[in-house]
Formats: sequence, structure tokens, C-alpha cells
Amino acid sequence: MLLSSFILASLVLVLLYLLLLHKDNISSIPLVSYRNLPVVGHLIPFLRDRRKFLMECHQRYGQCFTVKLLTQRITFVLSPFDWATVARNSSLYLPEHEFGIKVFDTGNSVIGFQQLNIEVHRYYTRYLKNRDRLQPIIVEFVLNLRKLMMHERMALKNSKNLSEWISTDLITFSHRMLFEPSSLALFGEINPLSIENDFRLFDQKIHYFNALLPSWIYSFFFRRELQTRFRLNNSWFSKIHPLHESDFIKHRADLLLDHPEWYSAQEFGGNQTAMMWASLANSTPALFWCLLYILRDTKALESIQQEIDMYLPSFSLDDDLSISLVSEWTTARLNSCVLLESAINETLRLVATPMVLRKCLHATDITLNDGRILHLKSNDAIALFSAIAHRDGNLFPDPDKFIFDRFVQKNADTVLGFMPFGMGKNICPGRYLARYEIKICIALVLRHMEYKFIDMKTIPTEQKHRIGVGIAPPNENVPIWYRYKS
Ligand code: HEM
Repeated sequence: MLLSSFILASLVLVLLYLLLLHKDNISSIPLVSYRNLPVVGHLIPFLRDRRKFLMECHQRYGQCFTVKLLTQRITFVLSPFDWATVARNSSLYLPEHEFGIKVFDTGNSVIGFQQLNIEVHRYYTRYLKNRDRLQPIIVEFVLNLRKLMMHERMALKNSKNLSEWISTDLITFSHRMLFEPSSLALFGEINPLSIENDFRLFDQKIHYFNALLPSWIYSFFFRRELQTRFRLNNSWFSKIHPLHESDFIKHRADLLLDHPEWYSAQEFGGNQTAMMWASLANSTPALFWCLLYILRDTKALESIQQEIDMYLPSFSLDDDLSISLVSEWTTARLNSCVLLESAINETLRLVATPMVLRKCLHATDITLNDGRILHLKSNDAIALFSAIAHRDGNLFPDPDKFIFDRFVQKNADTVLGFMPFGMGKNICPGRYLARYEIKICIALVLRHMEYKFIDMKTIPTEQKHRIGVGIAPPNENVPIWYRYKS
């Protein structure tokens, strides 16, 4: 009796398993096969080289397929014709609360997060997505970058080395141009250099935190990184409202501080660190790639130089007599630099690899452009991955070539297949600021510096573990020489 019940139960289980397997097979969205590793699924090839893995899946399974990473299934949607439908679906959400807790220690309170998130999105619209409201941040950024260049130039002049070439590498150069000036422009008179090492160390290891591993793994294996994060989060208490902080940061900070029932002081620090990271982590490699592509393209340079001379007033790095001209670096004038804007967008097309991840709150069906229906259950995940469309010759002829004026007279936000900043409600609110900062850096380099690349052709590879975050930094150093014009 016992034996026959056992056999019956086993048969039912086998039947159920086959049914489930069959369901996967008959689904119109293919599940990428993971034959020998049923528990980990595709985790290993995904971690090893996710761009290569997704390109292979694309070749084999087409524009939409499901992969399994441990227990999480993620359906990848590669066709730009489907992105807007996914981005508009109200059953899907960006799991930023989960990321915030694990990555930055931003606080557990779900209600607090939901309430404040609505308000914070209003601030994004008011302060960051509104080009006019960015003006004070832009002026602060130009002032701070000018100061940094002026000090370096003065120091070289005083040591009678102004004509000597300085040797560095392009990512260090890009980091330096953005880190201090951008942090000061957003957060006011904090002391960015005092947290620079911690910021760099944490940023280099952030992909481990993005993997959302169980907490004990971090406590056990990532003690140094946790201490670094603790120091970064604590650094925000020395001055809650530093002088010259931007309205955006001021109002966001007040919102968090006004609700101690949701956020502890340490968690407030976590939220500040998260914003600082968001404002620099993609912009710095983006500046690197823009400088690499634009400064090595003589044709692009000629036209961009003329445009900069026409629209952006020049000020001296020798004295403060012309400092008032900084306020004339308006968003309107920067918007007029359409060739530079196009060259930046073209660089982003070549290097941006964001994985726009959404989790499913309630079961939902999504009808794809080709008529197939994608069934998602609660807790399923879906990811839009734009890097493949960015190199699609049907959307962008000659896709591997840097064509600096490709985006002229196009609204980059509406170009089909171009998605460096995500999409929908959670599209990057810093995208205008990022482009302005990059424009300013390039304009000031062209105006005040001479430079030499040791190698004019090689394109470095990207750090594989950063593919999916936004813009991956390079794997190899790109040595450059520069000096200030006399
Ligand atoms: C070239 C530089 C940048 C790139 C490529 C980039 C890319 C992205 C991407 C792909 C997302 C996710 C969007 C989505 O899920 O749909 C994002 C979100 C975000 N970015 Fe950026 N970003 C850049 C610069 C900035 C800057 C300068 C700031 C800050 C001022 C910023 C602040 C944010 C914030 C706050 C979010 C989260 C938005 C939300 O919660 O809805 N980003 N960014």
C-alpha cells in the first residue's frame, strides 16, 4: 500500500515536471537552454561576458528570450519596437528599493521609500529634467572646473613648467575633470577630495553589490567595501546643508531628513552616497569615451571647434577679470552646440550598454510587435538591452563607425533604437546634466589645452562586469600627454 502510494506520488510529480517543461517549450518566448546546469542556469556565461552571451542568444533565439540566473528568470527584449510597450506597462517597476538597500544601505522602510519616491520624482522633473532650472548647476560646474584648471596651470607656471607636457591616462584625466567640479556643483561646499579614494574603491567593487547576493556574503567577504561605504555614508553629516548646494539636493535632503520615522541618519547618508554615485559613475566613463572618439577625429574637431568659438564666450585662466563671462555659459548657448551634442550622442550609441531592468508586481501580458504574447508572473523580471540595437545596421547605417554628425537635427530622446539613458518613468533624470557637463569639459579642453595621444587608433575594451550598468569604463589605460596653452 505504502509502496503503491509512493509510486503514484512519484508519477504525479514526474508528470507535473514534464508538463512544466512542456509549458516552457510551447511558450512562444524561448527559454535559452541550460542543459547541464539546472540550478545555476545561465549564471556563469552571463557573469563571464554578458554582452557576448546576449549576442549569442540574440543570434540563436531572436529578439526576445528568457534566461535563468539561479532562481530568477529574466526575459530580454532586444527589439526597439517593443521597448515603449514594456516601459509603459504599469505592472512593472524598477527594483530601486532592493538595489538601494543592498548597494548603498538606503533604508528598509518600504512605505517610506514609496512615499518619498513620488516626491523625489517630482524633484527630478522640476530640477533636473528642466533644462532652464539646470542653469545654476551649470554655472557652478564651469566655475569649479575653471578653478581646478587655473590652479594647475598656475602651479605649472610658478614652477616654470608651463610648456612641458604632462603625462597621464585618459580615464584619470576624465575622473579629475568631473569628480570635484561636479560634486561641488550638485552638493555644494563639501570636501570631495576627502572621500575620493573611498568613492573610487566602492565604485570599483559595486558590481558585487549590484548582484544582490545574500547579506552574509557581504559581511563575510566584503568587509573592506562595507567599511568604505560606512565612511562614505557618514561623511555627509559634517555639514547637512553646505554652502552653494543645488536646489535639487537641498530639497531632496530636507525631504529625507523631515521623515526620521522612515530613514535613520545613516540611511540619509546612504541616499546621499547613492545620488553622488549616480551622478558620476556613468558620466566619468562617458566623458572618457567622448574624449577618446572626438579628440582623435580631426574632421569632427574642426567643426566642433568652430561651433564652440561661435557660441561659448571665452574667459581667461590667468586672472579673474573675465570671470563674469562664466555666467554666459547658458544652457541655451550649450544647446546651440549641435555638432558637439551629436558627437556625444554618437559616442553614447557606441558605448552605452544599459540593462533596463524591471520586476513584475502583478501578472501581466505584453503583446510584442511581432504578435507574440509575453506572459509575466509576479516577481518575473524583464530587461531591455539596447547595446545590440545600437549596432544594428538597419537602424544606424555603418554601425561600427563613429560618425560625429549622425545625430544632428535629431531629437536623441526619440531616435528609434537609441536608449543610453533607459526609458519610461525611470529614464535617467541626469541625462541633460550629463551631456552639459561633457560638453563643457570638451570645450574647455579644446580652448585651453594642447594634447597628444600616443596611439591614435586602438579602441580599448570595456570592463565586462560593468556592462549593463550604463557606460562601462575601459579595461586598458589610454596614455595621453597634455599641457596648457600659454
Ligand atoms: C552619461 C551619463 C549617464 C548615463 C549613461 C546614465 C544612465 C542611467 C540609466 C541607464 C539609468 C536607469 C534608467 C532606467 O532604468 O530606465 C539611470 C538612472 C538614474 N540616473 Fe543616470 N546616467 C548618467 C548620468 C546621470 C547623472 C549626471 C545623474 C545625476 C544628476 C544621474 C542620476 C540618475 C538617477 C537619480 C537615476 C534613477 C532614476 C529613478 O530612480 O527613476 N544620472 N541613469
